[in-house]
Amino acid sequence: MQQILDFLTARQDTALHELCQFLRIPSVSADSAYIPQMQACANWVLQAMTDAGLQATIYPTAGHPIVYGERLVDPALPTVLIYGHYDVQPPDPLDLWTTPAFEPTIRDGRLYARGATDDKGQLFTHLKSIQAWMQVNGGLPLNVKVLIEGEEECGGVHLDDFLKSHRELLRADVAVVSDTSQYGDGIPAITCGLRGIVAAEVRLRGPAKDLHSGVYGGSLANPVNALTRMCGALIGPDGRVQIPGFYDDVLDLTVEERSGYASLPFSEADFLKEVGSGAVFGEQGWSTLERRTARPTCDINGILGGYTGEGPKTIIPSKAMAKITCRLVPRMTPQKVLDGLESFLRAHCPPGIEFEFRRFHGCEAFVFDPTSDWLVAAKRAVETAFGQPPVLFREGGSIPVVLSFKQILGIDTLLLGWGRNSDNLHSPDEHIHLQDFHRGTRASACLWQELATVRPAR
Ligand code: BES
Ligand code: MN
Ligand code: MN
Repeated sequence: MQQILDFLTARQDTALHELCQFLRIPSVSADSAYIPQMQACANWVLQAMTDAGLQATIYPTAGHPIVYGERLVDPALPTVLIYGHYDVQPPDPLDLWTTPAFEPTIRDGRLYARGATDDKGQLFTHLKSIQAWMQVNGGLPLNVKVLIEGEEECGGVHLDDFLKSHRELLRADVAVVSDTSQYGDGIPAITCGLRGIVAAEVRLRGPAKDLHSGVYGGSLANPVNALTRMCGALIGPDGRVQIPGFYDDVLDLTVEERSGYASLPFSEADFLKEVGSGAVFGEQGWSTLERRTARPTCDINGILGGYTGEGPKTIIPSKAMAKITCRLVPRMTPQKVLDGLESFLRAHCPPGIEFEFRRFHGCEAFVFDPTSDWLVAAKRAVETAFGQPPVLFREGGSIPVVLSFKQILGIDTLLLGWGRNSDNLHSPDEHIHLQDFHRGTRASACLWQELATVRPAR
């Protein structure tokens, strides 16, 4: 193991240089203008897998390509399925980046670029650790299958089809995903739960065109008034979601889980500084950490309607729209939450307003058994590389593929995040700390050794 770690240390700069090439490709999956760059990025990943010693192939889909590589040693040994996504969020707003999003730049020990932490920088650690094993040992201590997709950030549907039609190819004992965060700076985490998500859009239509608000005001329902009233009704002053039945299925934290949360180091002042806000707000009766990771939410992500240009304009707008997401916790079902959300909004819709409700992707929450042998083995690997035992902690974000792995392939996922929530993922100036990239790579190298000792339950 030491030889492999020394090899990685000696080649840190090369790894970083390669990561910069990866980050230079603007693989924005949500925007069809980037289709050629998505293909270029898939080709780059294919080459990186090949260089790591994997047998790799690109699988085209009706959307963005999937890249798959494997190295099978011995069917008796454990097989891990490593997952990552090469697509990134759009870089906007561009003017808030200190250096351009697709011109990777190192400043104060961090590498800045869109995708640096979510997820190119994190997934690349696994390719580099596999390559180190291959070059130093001439082989791996277990079977690896690597699946890197390009539709994670745009709610793509093609990966599930791929999983369903390639069950045999993807057969594995456990999945490994590095697309979450450490608990805090230098405090590693193994994420033992994720929230689920549902997303929807509501569109309201009033009069056929914008009307003079003096001539017609008072005689017709205004779609922007209607939308803000229905959206405003979603959250009570106590921070609770007002949709009837919303909390009915929620699996509450156990007393042990709550005392676990309470014992984690947490500074509200540091938290507020990180997010640049003046006060916390949320559901009464729960701590900030609990609200962020183990309680369900409902958020309006964006709202559009009427005149917002300079100076006044006296109109009754013709239409309005809002985008809404709810984060789900264990036992909540996407279908039921969407049904509740739709009926709630519809019930608040005044006469004369045409109501349209569109549903997007959804997935349930996920929790990992903390006593599993895989998790215990992963803990050892993380502790070796970070010099500290990892905290077992739930994350508030969602990674729908984890549910698909469970439902379609029947396997659990080890969520080993090397980055930090403060890395500005989805925000301007996204970055990864060079130290996190390097120790993540070392943890990954140790992980193969540790997971190889687990006897798979087949
Ligand atoms: N890597 C994130 C999810 C994440 C980040 C989980 C940090 C935990 C900590 C992932 O790329 C992401 O952005 N997921 C989306 C899913 C959605 C598009 C279905 C999310 O959580 O909003
Ligand atoms: Mn991600
Ligand atoms: Mn993301």
